[in-house]
Amino acid sequence: MEQYVIKGGNALKGEVNIAGAKNAALGILAASILTDETVIIENLPDVSDINMFIQAMQSIGCMVEHIDRNTIKVNAIAIDSTEVDEGYMKKIRASYYMLGALTGKYHRAKVVLPGGCKIGTRPIDQHIKGFKALGAKVDIVSGNVVIEADKLTANDIYLDVVTVGATINIMLAAVLADGKTIIENAAKEPHVVDVANFLNSMGANIKGAGTDTIRIRGVEKLHGTTYSVIPDQIEAGTFMFASAVTGGNVLIKNVIPKHLESISAKLIEMGCEIKEYDDSVRVISEGRLKKTNIKTLPYPGFPTDMQPQGAVALALAEGTSLVTESIFENRFKYVDELTRMGATIKVEGNTAIIEGVEKYTGANISAPDLRAGAALVIAALAADGISTIEDIHFIERGYEDFPAKLSKLGALIEKVSEEKEVRKFILRVG
Ligand code: EPZ
Repeated sequence: MEQYVIKGGNALKGEVNIAGAKNAALGILAASILTDETVIIENLPDVSDINMFIQAMQSIGCMVEHIDRNTIKVNAIAIDSTEVDEGYMKKIRASYYMLGALTGKYHRAKVVLPGGCKIGTRPIDQHIKGFKALGAKVDIVSGNVVIEADKLTANDIYLDVVTVGATINIMLAAVLADGKTIIENAAKEPHVVDVANFLNSMGANIKGAGTDTIRIRGVEKLHGTTYSVIPDQIEAGTFMFASAVTGGNVLIKNVIPKHLESISAKLIEMGCEIKEYDDSVRVISEGRLKKTNIKTLPYPGFPTDMQPQGAVALALAEGTSLVTESIFENRFKYVDELTRMGATIKVEGNTAIIEGVEKYTGANISAPDLRAGAALVIAALAADGISTIEDIHFIERGYEDFPAKLSKLGALIEKVSEEKEVRKFILRVG
């Protein structure tokens, strides 16, 4: 079974390049089928969620061709089905974007209810509310969402919760609808803005993305474009915390520092020095980290996708810290694993009460989901001794070349598939 084997203790030093944002790219891939003209997407991360989504597009007749590792050419003219095979879709959360895109263009879609990381109940009632408001009929049939509409007509839609997925999905369904759709209480995440910018570069008329009111004036058709995906805020944040936790000095390149402000603010409270440049940030960490409190919130608040990485850092900080998860109810599954590495954490409801310890010790652990898996890798990098991390397929959903990027920063980490490779690694690193 594939796993990472890690010897902790090295401070990370050097430079790392951040890939394109997975969660923006998923929305952009779906949006690319809204035109029959050719679309070029650059800075696409080579991660398994993206590759699975591309396969799903190909399975309905969409042409997707790699120009290089991170650039693709999409042409949707030959799409011959609006039903996506559940084999592709059950595994990823973003399968729901197929609903918005297929409905927007063909007025019908059949997609299995979404899968993805098990971090909470993750309902899609707000997506469905949006599609219905645009005039579509939505049914759940044998685990599939089935949508049909004679025509789509603009409407005012108030989201009861701030949701990234429903905001993007309604944009996808509304760009070609008749009239002006208004989404109130919209999500403001950078990936929402990126999908809107992509759609506008295809000729859509979307205003207000990045605020809580998005106005979409339907256009008759969209055209081809060439577009580069924004840098991944969460991959960048993960490397920022990796530098902080290992006492490192890392320049994180190809980022938008504005998207990292809530993360930088917490690292500064924890005693790190942050240097911001035009498209990079440096995180310097010396001495023991200081306690603080973290509460996850929709953007521009501290991202839920950074909560486990934050907790891993605070569990090594001096004093007692609180981490409150307010987006997903099941995002503390890494706590048991971290406890096995020596952390002292008590979870009460949606809050983790963390008594900082001086060090972690290596252990054999498993990644419970994508971000928690990345956080446990960071913990292992800071730990005394050897750790192995199983279920790394979760981590590979969202991090391109994670072990290679960490190795370049001086980490001792290797991806192995057999037990004897673990022994070899241990012999080699001593
Ligand atoms: C997106 O998930 C991301 N996934 C998640 O990243 C991220 O954690 C999340 O946004 C929050 O930023 C993708 O972009 C593919 P939401 P999404 O809709 O869209 C509730 C990662 O690790 N809600 O913003 O599914 C929901 O239960 C992943 O990369 C409803 O109640 O999240 C949650 O409490 C994990 N009804 C809150 O809204 C709905 O119809 C926010 O969810 C939809 C959501």
